[in-house]
Amino acid sequence: MTVASDPTRMKSLPKWRGTPSYIASDDLCSTVNVAVALGRPLLVKGEPGTGKTLLAQAIAEGLGLNLLTWHVKSTTRAQDGLYLYDTVARLNDSRFGDRDVRDIGQYIVLGQLGQAFERAQNGERVVLLIDEVDKADLEFPNDLLHELDAMRFKVAETGRDIVATTRPVVVITSNAEKELPDAFLRRCVFHYIEFPDEALLAQICRVHHAGVDEKLLAAALRQFMRVRSLPELRKKPSTSELIDWLAALRLAGIDGDKLESALPFAGVLLKQERDTARAAKTDFAKLAQRRF
Ligand SMILES: Nc1ncnc2c1ncn2[C@@H]1O[C@H](COP(=O)(O)OP(=O)(O)O)[C@@H](O)[C@H]1O
Ligand SMILES: [Mg+2]
Repeated sequence: MTVASDPTRMKSLPKWRGTPSYIASDDLCSTVNVAVALGRPLLVKGEPGTGKTLLAQAIAEGLGLNLLTWHVKSTTRAQDGLYLYDTVARLNDSRFGDRDVRDIGQYIVLGQLGQAFERAQNGERVVLLIDEVDKADLEFPNDLLHELDAMRFKVAETGRDIVATTRPVVVITSNAEKELPDAFLRRCVFHYIEFPDEALLAQICRVHHAGVDEKLLAAALRQFMRVRSLPELRKKPSTSELIDWLAALRLAGIDGDKLESALPFAGVLLKQERDTARAAKTDFAKLAQRRF
């Protein structure tokens, strides 16, 4: 089906702008709204911790839709998302149970994609998060698109047809561990979540730390940016680590001024011994003299 002929395509752009607990840049907001209006899967990439997974929840919340989450693993196949036939339960029942094992329907377990289509068949539009698509093998994204394009499937064992009449809002995240196939990319609307600048980070921190002392927040952000700018870090700390670090600083009652020369609770920000050793050797007071 072409996008133009898709009956679920909206007539105007929705007005999703993030939520009180999810801060989205203007760019991200417009990409989300376009993807929702076109009925195209939204593919989001970005460093770990930049809010990709949380985005789907925020879209669901903002649009007043339910969220279904499908966590992809290295062994995940597209078929798993549709349904599984639980033959083991049926075998067990045939030996020890009292259920009528001739009714195969009761052993069909719908996956998250199957559930999204089933709900769509009943007129409910949901947000479907397919999290970390790059974890599975290369065939997975293409197989997935086949299912998403078709918007229908048959349960072969029972002959039941499930036909979605409204397109779920599909959010697909990737940590960019692998390149995704061209055919897959062609069908998605794409957004790369840039690592937030200081102003956006401050807003995100305020969401998670209501009433935080602004002086401490500013000092913590400056020190966090210095840490991120250290050369040769194996794993730069991300937003989620900053939020935890700020919690630790608040709990310990650390004074913002101290952060010009020291890095307390380094292990909350840095998770590799080489990185913590690198930070331990750093003269933060000297670094603080430079501007970032
Ligand atoms: N834009 C944002 N608004 C609010 N919180 C955010 C935002 N980005 C990241 N966070 C925080 O960082 C954490 C990690 O986000 P997550 O969605 O798991 O990142 P990713 O999936 O990109 O690794 C979230 O639980 C949230 O606390
Ligand atoms: Mg994630």
